[in-house]
Amino acid sequence: MSEDHPLFEQGRHLLSVSQFTRENLRAFFDLADAVDPIAKRQAVCTVLDGAMLGSLFFEPSTRTRLSFESAFLRLGGEVTTTTGFTFSSMAKGESIADTSRVVSGYSDVLVVRHPDKGSVAEFAEASTVPVINAGDGAGEHPSQALLDVYTLDKELTDRGKTIDGCHMAIIGDLKFGRTVHSLMKLMSLYKDLTFTVFSPVSLELPTEIEQYAVRHGHRVHVTGTVVEAVTGADAVYATRVQRERMTEELAQANTQGDLLNWSILAEANNLEAIIMHPLPRDSRPDSYDLSSDVDDLPGLAIFHQTDNGLNVRMAIFLTALGVSIEAVNLTTKQRPWKATLRS
Ligand code: NCD
Repeated sequence: MSEDHPLFEQGRHLLSVSQFTRENLRAFFDLADAVDPIAKRQAVCTVLDGAMLGSLFFEPSTRTRLSFESAFLRLGGEVTTTTGFTFSSMAKGESIADTSRVVSGYSDVLVVRHPDKGSVAEFAEASTVPVINAGDGAGEHPSQALLDVYTLDKELTDRGKTIDGCHMAIIGDLKFGRTVHSLMKLMSLYKDLTFTVFSPVSLELPTEIEQYAVRHGHRVHVTGTVVEAVTGADAVYATRVQRERMTEELAQANTQGDLLNWSILAEANNLEAIIMHPLPRDSRPDSYDLSSDVDDLPGLAIFHQTDNGLNVRMAIFLTALGVSIEAVNLTTKQRPWKATLRS
């Protein structure tokens, strides 16, 4: 944890993964486990009855916004939301500070996504309630890293392994991919990790992130090919080319085949690897992303990540609003209805 980022607890903003220690991360994951029946909709909870989430997304989003909002609703709260600049008064030139002060007056917690690095911290400065960073440009995406590490821990445990000592391959756009920045920082809380990284030219991992991991005692090997990166890895984390954050020329230079597919994993003799991706996966031709031909492999964890996102985001709200698991259980009941398809 860095000195300028206080521990994430009741009444605090969540802006960076550096607000976690190994100890409070474990306690946080225990809370995410404890709300599983609510996440899985086996139980109905009203602990946040009367609470209002202000959800402000100034960049495209599907799963992050909907899972934050679903998490709040599942805990019994209510949600107000605005998406894009067009439909908010920022289109009339309103400052971040004014917007934040106003919306925090209507809400008990804010979730904010914005295209500029550092902008969510500006929202936090002016807000009267906790602000959760849902992605600030190429900066950080702490809730994604939390759900990634939560998922990785479960996948490795299922295989009799731990995050301590694991080998993680990280491939794709490592420059603009904020999920990778938060992930490597959060994983640095563990011990003795090997990261093998691969990125196309001009989309390399920022030196500060590499140095962060090295300073925490881990090995970072930059590789020249994806096959080399994924050989021997326990898990592979692939990311999309963040076309919206780069010049047209650079985006064009990164249109070619697949970043990762079945043949690449077969060539690396690693068809058993845990396969992760923050999603969305770019399914357009030559998008240079994760191919869907890996979807039947045993290690595919991308939809475990999205499902686990609900547990993690519930745990974020419960922590920020100071709600104990006892209070959650007191307001939880079994539900009589079933919403799943018959097989
Ligand atoms: C990511 C994001 O927005 O940073 N998506 C997400 O939140 N799951 C990754 C991406 O857009 O590529």
